[in-house]
Amino acid sequence: MAINKLLKSPRETAALARTLAQVFMYLGPSHKGATVVGLVGDLGAGKTSFTKTFLRTFGVKTHVVSPTFVIMRSFALPARKRNGFRAAHHVDAYRIDARALKQMNFGEYLADSRNIILIEWADRIKKALPKSTFWIEMGHGRHHKERIFSLKFKD
Ligand SMILES: Nc1ncnc2c1ncn2[C@@H]1O[C@H](COP(=O)(O)OP(=O)(O)O)[C@@H](O)[C@H]1O
Ligand SMILES: [Mg+2]
Repeated sequence: MAINKLLKSPRETAALARTLAQVFMYLGPSHKGATVVGLVGDLGAGKTSFTKTFLRTFGVKTHVVSPTFVIMRSFALPARKRNGFRAAHHVDAYRIDARALKQMNFGEYLADSRNIILIEWADRIKKALPKSTFWIEMGHGRHHKERIFSLKFKD
């Protein structure tokens, strides 16, 4: 099942990010492993903007930028916001492959239920991600401030 939503401005994208973050916060950790959000979309689609608002909602105060040159940035979550989660990780998978994931012990991050992991360009490492990954695909709309978001779980 996919839920599609036309977002007409960055403000609407932020509202969706905030709402979804609240849902994940409400749900808390899964007993199966990390909570993974896979973000898919071309440059400028809104992956980083979405992540920024999502992480702010979880109480992350640090400046959130595309982690392009670091692969992954990790943030401890403040107790009052985390509801059982401990850390959020913001990954840029644009240039990483299976070997790089192994080197950074990505499997250990995935195994720990207390992690919430947001991954830009997640389709590039699809094989390494759990079935429970929540996929968010985003593309440009007809107007320059429009984005089309598609939310889904898939096998
Ligand atoms: N509806 C919208 N949702 C998200 N971003 C938008 C929207 N309309 C315009 N933008 C702009 O598009 C850009 C998205 O950039 P960014 O979040 O860095 O994308 P990505 O990480 O996917 O490359 C930002 O400059 C943002 O202001
Ligand atoms: Mg980005």
